[in-house]
Amino acid sequence: LISGEGSNMIKLCQSMVGDHPARPVLVLSNGPLVGGLEKAAAMGIPIQTIDHQALSANSTAFEAELARILQEDAADIICLAGFMRILSPSFVQLFHGCMLNIHPSLLPKYPGLNTHARALAAGDRQAGCSVHLVTPELDKGPILGQESVPILPHDTSDSLAARVLVAEHQLYPRVLRSFAEGPLACL
Ligand code: GRF
Repeated sequence: LISGEGSNMIKLCQSMVGDHPARPVLVLSNGPLVGGLEKAAAMGIPIQTIDHQALSANSTAFEAELARILQEDAADIICLAGFMRILSPSFVQLFHGCMLNIHPSLLPKYPGLNTHARALAAGDRQAGCSVHLVTPELDKGPILGQESVPILPHDTSDSLAARVLVAEHQLYPRVLRSFAEGPLACL
């Protein structure tokens, strides 16, 4: 599930080849004008959009549609990859144990937004990213893997974000593969 450029999604999809136990069945975004969709389509992966703005009058309609599509496509593993919608506890419960997220901080530090600015403001020497299971509490699920990067003296939020993103691209495919190789406790 994506909301933006989908660079993590592309790395995940590129990794699912050969003896990898998983294959991408769907890339879905919550808005129609999302750069990652075109890239997924170009890779031959089915794409779908649920326009959350069109459904904004009814907040449960978005999740009902999302659940319907994921169940119809028989997704065994759901990867949030820069997906910028907070999912309700009841939705998360539906996919308990099979939904992963990548977060651009060394959790439990800096859940939520603006992680890089917060790491810089705190004077941290290290930043990084985490892949975790999604549970009802935002960015609080069990951590499946982490990757650290140094914070350099003249870093800005943007330069740090770019360095962390490179680490995300290595971490997420690695964690997805070992997760997919394990026993799946879901669906
Ligand atoms: C990544 O840094 C991800 O961790 C964060 O948003 C960014 C999305 O990048 N939540 P992309 O869409 O995968 O390129």
